[in-house]
Amino acid sequence: MAIALPAGAEILPDPDALARAAADRLIAVCAAAPAERIAVCLSGGSTPKRLYERLAGPDYVGRVPWGRVHWFFGDDRVVPWDDARSNVRMVREAFGHGAPVPATHLHLIPSDAGAETGAAAYARALLDFYGADRLDPGRPLFDLVLLGLGEDGHTASLFPGKPALAAEALAAPVPEAGLAPHVPRITLTFPALASSALVLFLVAGAGKRDALRRLSAGEDLPAGRVTSLGRVVWMVDAAAADA
Ligand code: 6PG
Repeated sequence: MAIALPAGAEILPDPDALARAAADRLIAVCAAAPAERIAVCLSGGSTPKRLYERLAGPDYVGRVPWGRVHWFFGDDRVVPWDDARSNVRMVREAFGHGAPVPATHLHLIPSDAGAETGAAAYARALLDFYGADRLDPGRPLFDLVLLGLGEDGHTASLFPGKPALAAEALAAPVPEAGLAPHVPRITLTFPALASSALVLFLVAGAGKRDALRRLSAGEDLPAGRVTSLGRVVWMVDAAAADA
C-alpha cells in the first residue's frame, strides 16, 4: 500500500525515470540560473550515479551548460579519491569521458587532509566561490542541491545524533559515520544546504520505505531538517513509495 510521502513528493515509476526527471529539472535550473556561474551540489551514494551517467549521455550532454556549471559535493568519505568508497570516484566514473567538465569546475572536498582540516578548507572554498565571508539569506550559494536519503534518515553525512547536526560552519568533520562505510566523513551542514534555490531529494528502492514513513510521520530525522531558500522537492521511485 502506498506510504505517506513528504508533501509535494513526485513518484517516478523506476530509477531510470527518476534519473531522467532529475536531469530535466537540472537542465531547467541551469536555464533559469541568474548568474553566469551555476553552482550544483552533488549527492554521494549509489542512487544519483544513474543521473550523473545520464547527464553525460547522448540525451543530455548537449543540454548541460558545462562551461557555466560548477560541481560541489554534499559530502565525501575521508579516503583517497581513487578509493571505491570515494564520492569523487563515483562522480568521475559516472561523468566518464562524456561530460566535458573543466577541471577547475569540479570542486573536490580535500579529504586527503583529514576530516577536521578538510572540512575547514572546504568551508573556506565555498565562501571563496560565493565571494563573501558569510552567506546572505537573499542570495543562495547553490542553484541546486541534490541529496539522498539513508535508511536511518541521514542525508549527506548528517547522521542521527551526531555533532555535525549542530554545526554552524558550512562544512563539518564526521569522525564516526552512522552507517557504512564506517570511515570518517566530511559533510556540508544544514546552513550550507539551506543556502540553495532548490533541493532535490532522490530516493529509490524499497529499502527507503521505512525512512520515508518515519519522515512523513513527523519523526525528527536529519533529512527532515533540510531547508531551502526556495523549495525542497522529494523525487521517489515507485519501489520506495510502495506505490
Ligand atoms: C553518501 C551520501 C549519502 C547517501 C545516502 C543514500 O555519501 O553516501 O551522501 O547521504 O545519499 O546514504 O545512499 P544510496 O543512494 O546509496 O542509497
